[in-house]
Amino acid sequence: MQNNLFLLKCEGQVSPIGIDTGFPVFSWKIIKKGYPGYQKNFRILLADTETAISAQADLIWDFLSQTESMSVPYGGPPLLSRQTYFWQIILTTDSGKVLKSHITHFETGFLNQDCWQAKWICLSGSPLTQHLPEVDKEGEPLPVDFDMISFGPVHQVRKEFSVTKKIKKARLYLTAHGVYIPFLNGKRIGCYELAPEHTMYQNQLLYQIYDLTEDLTPGNHTIGVYVADGWYRSRMGFDGSNCQQGDELALLLQLELEYADGEKYVLCSDGTFQVTEGAYLYADMMSGEKYDARLEKTDFFLNGYKKTDFRYARIMKEDYKNLRAQIGNHIKITEVLLPQAYYQLDESSVMLDYGKCIAGRIQFRLNEKAGQKIIIEHSEAEGVDHTFVKNIITPYREQIITYICKGSDMESHEPLFNYHGFRYIRVSGVTGKFNPNNFCAHVLGTEMETTSTFFCSDERLNKLQNNILRSQFSNMISIPTDCPQREKAGWTGDVQIYASTACFNQDVKDFFIRWLSDVSYCQSKDGQIPIIVPFLSGHERAFDGIGCSAGWSDVIIILPWVLYQYYGDIQILENYYEAMEKWVSHIKRAAASENPKELQHVTGKRAEYLKYIWNTGFHFGDWLTPSVSMNPATGDVDLMQSAIMTMELVPTVFYAYCCKLMKKISSTLGKEERAKYYSSLYQHVKTAFQYEYLNKDGTVKSELQGIQVLALHAGLVDNGSRDNTIRKLVNLIHANGDRLDTGFLSTPYLLDVLTDAGYKQLAYKLLYSEEFPSWLYEVKMGATSIWESWQAILPDGQVSHVSMAHYAFGCVGDWMYRNIIGIRSEAPGYKKIRIEPGLDCGLISAKGSYESIYGLISCEWKIHENQVSIDVIVPFNTTAELVVNNNEIVLSAGSYHFEYKKEN
Ligand code: BGC
Repeated sequence: MQNNLFLLKCEGQVSPIGIDTGFPVFSWKIIKKGYPGYQKNFRILLADTETAISAQADLIWDFLSQTESMSVPYGGPPLLSRQTYFWQIILTTDSGKVLKSHITHFETGFLNQDCWQAKWICLSGSPLTQHLPEVDKEGEPLPVDFDMISFGPVHQVRKEFSVTKKIKKARLYLTAHGVYIPFLNGKRIGCYELAPEHTMYQNQLLYQIYDLTEDLTPGNHTIGVYVADGWYRSRMGFDGSNCQQGDELALLLQLELEYADGEKYVLCSDGTFQVTEGAYLYADMMSGEKYDARLEKTDFFLNGYKKTDFRYARIMKEDYKNLRAQIGNHIKITEVLLPQAYYQLDESSVMLDYGKCIAGRIQFRLNEKAGQKIIIEHSEAEGVDHTFVKNIITPYREQIITYICKGSDMESHEPLFNYHGFRYIRVSGVTGKFNPNNFCAHVLGTEMETTSTFFCSDERLNKLQNNILRSQFSNMISIPTDCPQREKAGWTGDVQIYASTACFNQDVKDFFIRWLSDVSYCQSKDGQIPIIVPFLSGHERAFDGIGCSAGWSDVIIILPWVLYQYYGDIQILENYYEAMEKWVSHIKRAAASENPKELQHVTGKRAEYLKYIWNTGFHFGDWLTPSVSMNPATGDVDLMQSAIMTMELVPTVFYAYCCKLMKKISSTLGKEERAKYYSSLYQHVKTAFQYEYLNKDGTVKSELQGIQVLALHAGLVDNGSRDNTIRKLVNLIHANGDRLDTGFLSTPYLLDVLTDAGYKQLAYKLLYSEEFPSWLYEVKMGATSIWESWQAILPDGQVSHVSMAHYAFGCVGDWMYRNIIGIRSEAPGYKKIRIEPGLDCGLISAKGSYESIYGLISCEWKIHENQVSIDVIVPFNTTAELVVNNNEIVLSAGSYHFEYKKEN
């Protein structure tokens, strides 16, 4: 039984089933807010019955550790597959108090590949032909005639079986090439959406585990599964090409029954499984879906199917090497929305507004005659006077649902095999009286705990925070994506830019680690980290020759480092250290061995410096720098301009920054020799950068704010140069009417660089500005999410063709949490906390919290006349330093209230 003091997790989840590691990690925390004290030692007990734990006898593992760590990997004798284990934590606090947790459990699944008896079965009658669209010179697909594209149908699979007696335990292990949805006797089972998720399938293909104990009573049953193209076969290539991970849909299913009398029965996918096609004519992740309800074959999923309109599945030669159990972080429906407004567009079409930009899909009900065609289109924006405009117009990313009615009363449907980014939909084809409530939106997201709260006396900032969260939720779908509509791609740069804000807002640890495994898998032999992960052949084709990019590929160093700061897990650094080193070696080699044509004949001192300047290859640079990429008069966005303008300096800055981080990471891992190496490499890069890119007055040779910010952040200018560069940055901001002009890479550091240089008030001014481009300009324009480009909606309401749900510029959240609420980490995992309320920020109150691995950290402050009140919660096993009016007070775990006189 759960007690109210502890939260216990195994592999990051409460009581998981089906774990496939023999060394699960146990973690715990005290959930009572501000519970006083430290952990002096802990004892973990593990047994295969609950009574053994209670009696502290017949234990499998009894481990005592004199540490403050609140997680430990299993270290006892080998665990067995398909077993339930029980465990408990007993910890002693610094004051000698003994705290006993409740007893919890977890279940192992397949600890080795031999547990798989099922065969992979191929469902497709024949492979789908790969379609390689024509692309323009930027790799973007050229428009096509939609009807000419061939899509594959969704397959339906069935298998009838008997349960002969009472069941003690039933587990279904299931995965597919494609995305699948399982049914038992025609009823959907589980709540996992878009399983088996988007990964680099050769590296890891997840399988899901379902508990069917309650569902399988004695008698006949039919397992039915839909398998659709999903990420496996849809148009996931950046160039719009399909069949990116394979061209035939397949299934792997193993149902294990344990009867009450101990007898076992295993049902395995094999050549007796029946396959057919029904109403889903196609279901593509990017283009949308076509469903003809007149062709439905729902009885195929029921017992006693007598028709012969099926074929038998074909057994495939496929191994189990890439299979991994999915423990948590599933995609699920997180919210259901009804339209907030609707507008009749013309006789046969209506626009519905769901009030906010989301990732999800529409579930609808209709009362139409057979054969009536209904079309649903999605968009994140509306035009002037509530007209329907599509903000995304790229071919192959149409997001169109076509539904042909069967003509029954109130037939209902939900396109289950894709998701869209939208706020508005246009519904065409409905006859009769239109009821908007028959169209509800299902919001999708990955199941992860929200760990932040933020609220302050400026409503605009509260909206901004909501927009940040919403864009995060819309893009944490299976992998961290750039946007939920146009690309749904794991752009590596976007992740590193936003990582810290993401970690504050949600428990993203295991989600990011899963993706990192694919990042390192996609690393090339010579160390290059791709710009998108999973990296598919269609990306390769579109970005011919671009194996990596500065500021994007550095995710392999920056993300593990950020994760370590938030979750204190050194293993993450250990696991990716080799990949990090390979990446820096690649940069070093590229810098030392290649120069652009005009520099190839340089000799002498400069030639020596050039060895540390990374000045070749294509780089996205300070992507989307407003003054170079946008034209507010026309709404045009020239994506490539900021890359062209900044790609010379940016790579060397990130080269230096990576060396700096590698020095810290190496020291953290106790690799002192490597730390020295990176420290010296950093010095070389820095000296070369200064020689090559500094003006005589020490400022950086660029008139862009972002470049000054990046050079300052990487510590590449010091002493007088630093002062001059800061002054130059401040002047550039003033000359721009106190507005920012930074791109993707520099925006995360802009406000910090200003704050650290003593220009905190200017940082606030940028944050509070409503002038285009700024965060609050978007809020003023009614944004409900963070836009890809500041000018997604122009001051006159005109809509640009960019995404409205890109989290990258939401990176400002990280600064707001640290500077307005005032919560910052001083040691990995927030073991030491600094609380410095933003009393100088111009607001009269703010409150916020972060649910850390140790428990809740919170700070609430209010200014009333000249009096300041501050409430703080410090979690068990941590210490905090509260800084007010330049005074520091050390706080141990607890809840506190302070009153101060406000100083100016
Ligand atoms: C994506 C970005 C990405 C960029 C590369 C875009 O199409 O949406 O967010 O990082 O390309 O610069």
